[in-house]
Amino acid sequence: MKNELIERIVSGMRVTGRLHLGHFHGVIKNWLELQNAYECFFFAADLHGLTTNYENPGNVKQQAFSMVADWLAAGVNPNQAKIFIQSWVPEHTELHLLLSMITPLSWLERVPTYKDQKEKLAEKDLDTYGFLGYPVLMSADILLYKAGLVPVGEDQIPHLELTREIARRFNHLYGQEKGFAEKALAALNKLGKKSAALYQDFRRRFQEQGDKEALTLAEALLNQQKNLTLADHERLRGYVFGTNKIILPEPAPLLTKVPKVSGLDGQKMSKSYENSIFLGESAAVIEEKVKTMPTDPARVRRNDPGNPDVCPVWSLHKIYSDKDTKAWVQEGCRSAGIGCLDCKGALIKAIEKEQAPIRERAQEYQQNPQLISDILHDGADAAREIARDTLAEVKEVMGLEY
Ligand code: TRP
Ligand code: SF4
Repeated sequence: MKNELIERIVSGMRVTGRLHLGHFHGVIKNWLELQNAYECFFFAADLHGLTTNYENPGNVKQQAFSMVADWLAAGVNPNQAKIFIQSWVPEHTELHLLLSMITPLSWLERVPTYKDQKEKLAEKDLDTYGFLGYPVLMSADILLYKAGLVPVGEDQIPHLELTREIARRFNHLYGQEKGFAEKALAALNKLGKKSAALYQDFRRRFQEQGDKEALTLAEALLNQQKNLTLADHERLRGYVFGTNKIILPEPAPLLTKVPKVSGLDGQKMSKSYENSIFLGESAAVIEEKVKTMPTDPARVRRNDPGNPDVCPVWSLHKIYSDKDTKAWVQEGCRSAGIGCLDCKGALIKAIEKEQAPIRERAQEYQQNPQLISDILHDGADAAREIARDTLAEVKEVMGLEY
């Protein structure tokens, strides 16, 4: 069972268009595991989509709903995870603006994805304030829920590092409080003797030995306390470190080991490379796409032995096939014992086996936008409950309390 000791997870996916097998194996399968173990918030980042697509937003609603239908079809469970659309929780936008006040320009210009993406998407005009602020919006997404962990791929690590820096700066600027230490000690007295002693021990271990585990244990201990006010909770959270209240806790990355899903041509699967198999693709299209995949170019005739290492079909077998099938491909390819059509046939079967049930469920959802809409409204309501509280605290310490 999930309880309050369990950390909160937040993750967003940019609304871009159809999902492909790369998203499925890279992100969604990971979400399916996380939703069983953590309190999860998964959202469709429609505002992030706009940072690069503002000139031609297209039908954002249709795209977002179709993406969410794919999540649901793949098994993301609205009874476990909160699923919502970013712009339906306007607190994201509001926190983004407030955080932008304290974010130095130089931090943003230094984020490696900023230059990279601008070069990659050279055909678009990305000399905009919104695009530069992409990672501030992402920080708001995360800090709004005081997430402990954020599952991300390697490419998003710099964004998460920036989120941590923004949180630190925020706490430094606004977590100062007159008589902080006295108030923290008074709060400590409310914990009861045993818990207070434990807390002091964790604090010492962290401060004297840099023991990260002690930090986690202290947090867990605080989360168990039912009698603490929010302010005391923040004081004690901060007192572990030193002299500031922690209003926005720093999230940690949960680096996911993502299998590299290569596309039909052997490059990374990506919509812009036109080498994708989409989630819920029809059986006929899956078959057609795999059948026309290039293979080892040296294997011209059926009798020529091949080398799976240079063949995109093998790259997909690595993800889709069991040990025996993989051995069969390796042996059969290198000895010319099997033909490429045999090899592809096995792959087609495996992908179809995985996709058929997803496709069916996706169709049910696609045909019932009301159902998706209900799920998204519930998700947004739940998200707002938390978002509203955080925003109120942020506004208060920034002097916006009327
Ligand atoms: N930037 C992320 C990506 O491109 C998407 C994203 C937006 C996100 N907000 C987030 C991911 C918050 C994790 C947490 O993949
Ligand atoms: Fe590629 Fe399979 Fe043909 Fe070998 S047998 S070249 S792995 S498709």
